[in-house]
Amino acid sequence: MISIRTIGLTLALVGGLATAGLASAAAPPAPKSNGLALTPPIGWSSWNNFGEDINEQLVVESIDAMIANGMRDAGYIFVNLDDGWQRYKGKRSDHPLEVDPKKFPRGIAWLANYAHERGMKLGIYSGPGQTTCAGYTGSEGHEREDAKMFASWGIDHLKYDACCSHREAPKTELQRIFKTMSDSLMAQQRGIILHACHCGWGDIWEWAGALGINHWRIGQDISDDFNYPGNREKYYFDVLDQLDRGVGIERFSGPGHWNDYDMLIVGLNGKSKQLVGSGASNTEYRTHFSLWAMVSSPMLVGADVRKLDAYSLETLTNKEIIALNQDAAGNIAEKVRDDGDLEVFAKELSDGSHAVLLLNRGAATAEITFSPRRDMQVPMDRYSVRDLWQHRDMGTYEIPFTAEVQSHEARVFRIRQLSTSPNGRSVSDGAAEQSTR
Ligand code: GAL
Repeated sequence: MISIRTIGLTLALVGGLATAGLASAAAPPAPKSNGLALTPPIGWSSWNNFGEDINEQLVVESIDAMIANGMRDAGYIFVNLDDGWQRYKGKRSDHPLEVDPKKFPRGIAWLANYAHERGMKLGIYSGPGQTTCAGYTGSEGHEREDAKMFASWGIDHLKYDACCSHREAPKTELQRIFKTMSDSLMAQQRGIILHACHCGWGDIWEWAGALGINHWRIGQDISDDFNYPGNREKYYFDVLDQLDRGVGIERFSGPGHWNDYDMLIVGLNGKSKQLVGSGASNTEYRTHFSLWAMVSSPMLVGADVRKLDAYSLETLTNKEIIALNQDAAGNIAEKVRDDGDLEVFAKELSDGSHAVLLLNRGAATAEITFSPRRDMQVPMDRYSVRDLWQHRDMGTYEIPFTAEVQSHEARVFRIRQLSTSPNGRSVSDGAAEQSTR
């Protein structure tokens, strides 16, 4: 049984270390806008579960499944082909870039049309080298021509991946290759979102927005783990690694130009043919999803959407959590309190309310106390609290609130300022404990 209760001014996290609150540091260079991705792109990507093993039937079935299971209506409109749609492996100087006719017999334009007719969007993948990460022909030397081809097919999103071809490239070279594709896309009549994938290297968040790039990975590939000791295969980042990577670079992210914490692992359950990792618990997947929503990361589901179990689907289609990700203000939650294993993230939403996430990274259940004044430096003396996983209004508070948070759980609340009551008391005053589950 989890409970939430009001407590005078007693803090459960005695000796806690408050962090910077919601103040932000020096402003990054002004982003160049193509008018796209004003909220983070959310949808499905083929890579995390299927790798190169993709084809037309899989994509059609995935679109149909996302419509039938409510994902599209919850906002997941992007259907993104990752590496493996191309016909040839080997250097671009030796082969043209064409669709594999065995995998996609009716071509990509047909597939884009299939998506568009159903209110969805189609994404594709290439890279700035001679070859892509999986060894298919890249776009080097043919950027304008490829951008034109993608636009003619009706493509809406391009993942442009430099992780393998330009791993050691200096920053100036990275900026050149991404600018070339960004300019090539912007020269098309069709708006195409550009994801510059460079696995979080070259401080890409510092300069990508100014080149007109819509999102960029802040870390190496995610693995299907919540908190694996160290890095799997000395490379992969788990959920908490990605989260920690984003702390301190929030100011580079916003409408049209997002820090990307990598694709969602919810529903993979350690069974992906493609991705390493032993899977996470339902609670951990839910925490991962809540965190990505709070930091407004693009959210591309990596699991097989045709076979999602009920719990994963309920997690992914929680509209109150998705609303935090898709909020028009585009604020990125900051870590406003860090007490070792117990952390608090918060951000302001476009209607003036705030989203608050209480995270327990530890092994044992713990109480976490949140105070708007102390943790966000917001003088909110009377406020309502809504639990976004239980879909329940918790009442009115005039003092900090405390919630019990299980190991690896994140509890997420939306709090709204209320006018001060005439007698200075809140409806929750005197109620020693309110059961929430
Ligand atoms: C990696 C990238 C993955 C996937 C893969 C395709 O560089 O990080 O997300 O796109 O290439 O080969």
